[in-house]
Amino acid sequence: MLDDTDVDAPVEISPAQLRSLSDELQRFLLPYRFGLQEVATKIDILRDEFLYLHDYNPIEHVSSRVKSPDSIVDKVGRKGIEPDFDSIRRRITDIAGIRITTSFTADAYRLFDLLTAQADISVQRVKDYIARPKPNGYKSLHAVVQVPVFLSTGPVDVPVEVQFRTIAMDFWASLEHKIHYKYRQQVPPELLAELKDAADSAAVLDERMERLHRELHEGPRPQDPRLLTV
Ligand code: GTP
Ligand code: MG
Repeated sequence: MLDDTDVDAPVEISPAQLRSLSDELQRFLLPYRFGLQEVATKIDILRDEFLYLHDYNPIEHVSSRVKSPDSIVDKVGRKGIEPDFDSIRRRITDIAGIRITTSFTADAYRLFDLLTAQADISVQRVKDYIARPKPNGYKSLHAVVQVPVFLSTGPVDVPVEVQFRTIAMDFWASLEHKIHYKYRQQVPPELLAELKDAADSAAVLDERMERLHRELHEGPRPQDPRLLTV
């Protein structure tokens, strides 16, 4: 039998070593924070210009995060990635993540097109779960884009995962996430079926709202009643 000394025997780590590990990790994550800022600024500019040109804001909200060291380590374990910074940089493309919640599906695609058409953005991967939803009902448009960040040591290309989805898709995804978290992959089948059904209802609502929105903007303007009085 193994005794305590054989399994995960604690090694002596000096405070200086711990500090240097923490510094290395901060240093590793820094460009991701800058990459997020770059993409967030691009989205801000697109929204402000849209508002100026069309008097219309296609974005409901934007949220972003740099993956925590704990969830990076988690993913390293889950995906069997070599535990070194180079492999993590290469294999984990959602360390920087930004989510853009739009009013309508057409806005999600329009923003995706406008962002990915920019000369300094290169698209690494696209997963269109709006056109082809996941079997559980999940819908969202995902893109991993590379954005250059200019550091004092020179430019680095940073991957940023950008998710575009409507409010209805976002509402569904956040509830589904909570349910999965609560049941830890053991979600009762009835609940899975109900979630799928809810996703379908959300899609119907999205279509209906978008149609109403189009009619509102494209239809004839009603006459101002004051102009009709003689
Ligand atoms: P991850 O290893 O989880 O990042 O998945 P992946 O590399 O296969 O990428 P994918 O584009 O499928 O998913 C990336 C992200 O989209 C996830 O981290 C979630 O934020 C979100 N996502 C994907 N599928 C689902 C889903 O079924 N439900 C919810 N709520 N979110 C999802
Ligand atoms: Mg992810």
